[in-house]
Amino acid sequence: MTQLSGLLDTEAIRKDFPVLDRVVHDGRKLVYLDNAATSQKPRQVLDALNEYYERYNANVHRGVHVLAEEATALYEGARDKVAEFINAPSRDEVIFTKNASESLNLVANMLGWADEPYRVDHETEIVITEMEHHSNIVPWQLLAQRTGAKLKWFGLTDDGRLDLSNIDEIITEKTKIVSFVLVSNILGTVNPVEAIVRRAQEVGALVCVDASQAAPHMPLDVQALQADFVAFTGHKMCGPTGIGVLWGRQELLEDLPPFLGGGEMIETVSMHSSTYAPAPHKFEAGTPPIAQAVGLGAAIDYLQAIGMEKILAHEHALTQYAVERLSQVPDLRIIGPTTAEDRGAAISFTLGDIHPHDVGQVLDEQGIAVRVGHHCARPVCLRYGIPATTRASFYLYSTPAEIDALVDGLEHVRNFFG
Ligand code: ALA
Repeated sequence: MTQLSGLLDTEAIRKDFPVLDRVVHDGRKLVYLDNAATSQKPRQVLDALNEYYERYNANVHRGVHVLAEEATALYEGARDKVAEFINAPSRDEVIFTKNASESLNLVANMLGWADEPYRVDHETEIVITEMEHHSNIVPWQLLAQRTGAKLKWFGLTDDGRLDLSNIDEIITEKTKIVSFVLVSNILGTVNPVEAIVRRAQEVGALVCVDASQAAPHMPLDVQALQADFVAFTGHKMCGPTGIGVLWGRQELLEDLPPFLGGGEMIETVSMHSSTYAPAPHKFEAGTPPIAQAVGLGAAIDYLQAIGMEKILAHEHALTQYAVERLSQVPDLRIIGPTTAEDRGAAISFTLGDIHPHDVGQVLDEQGIAVRVGHHCARPVCLRYGIPATTRASFYLYSTPAEIDALVDGLEHVRNFFG
């Protein structure tokens, strides 16, 4: 067994994740390396979800009965946990959504309907990057189409990093918003937030950070980031699906208009007009994902008990090991940074001219779960002239033995396709 320093006690951790005991395909033990798509859930989160439905289920903010009050306390308690987890100055800056895509769409729509000074219109510009997930491209394309704003983006270097050499031409006095990913889901790149934020602040542009692949894997401090909005999702960080977060600076949330209208987001309603509740409720129309927020709170408790610094160190050691081992596989090309520095634990690659779908299928037959395709980041594949990649991605319960299994599996793929 390979010995690496900085690893977590995965033997103990894996006991918390029932699904990791699964046996698939002719008695093969599951090797789950698709954590960037979604993480597995520890028993503590599954228990919290069950307990919520078995003991507390009620709608929130609406009832005067015991269950309604308890459900409200649990839901709002989850908001407190998120606020503390990301070091938000105020719990009222934490908006629950259904996923990171909804969080990013919410920002785009707030700005689309905003008055000056936030308004995005035909005289203004929106800046993104070529390594965004589609959820941080399409909402901005829609906004640009609707308002006539110009959409601009940073390109990529050959080694999978942002090309910031023309930062002063990309972010200009016309820029209203710069929205970019902290850790790329396809390349694994960790982006230099500080340089981008500094330039955005120089020209008075807002900054939105997609932290979907960062929040599960490293300490996230929204105050240190100095962004205006930060979006992430619960299901990649041991929480359930159906819960996302948008953090926004309080004064912006006070000034910006709501996107979805409905129950619970109002102060008063008449047949002619409505006034709105203060944030975060202004942005949470309708019955929210209550059980899912409670589950996310349990996931945060779980991750914090282990420690985000320790999780980061574990994944860094694994990534270093994986990059080294994968680099030795003949015909394998890593798409993205080829060192473990400033990169996260998602590694995309191609294997000769074997189509990634074939790679994924033969790996699956060996019990190894990876993701294949363009990973909702098609412009990255276009940039590197490839149709798709195979992506292995690790988490706190991943082990060096699983990386060895992947490398052996790839050898099998190569033999299979001659
Ligand atoms: N965004 C997820 C991924 O990268 C689904 O796989």
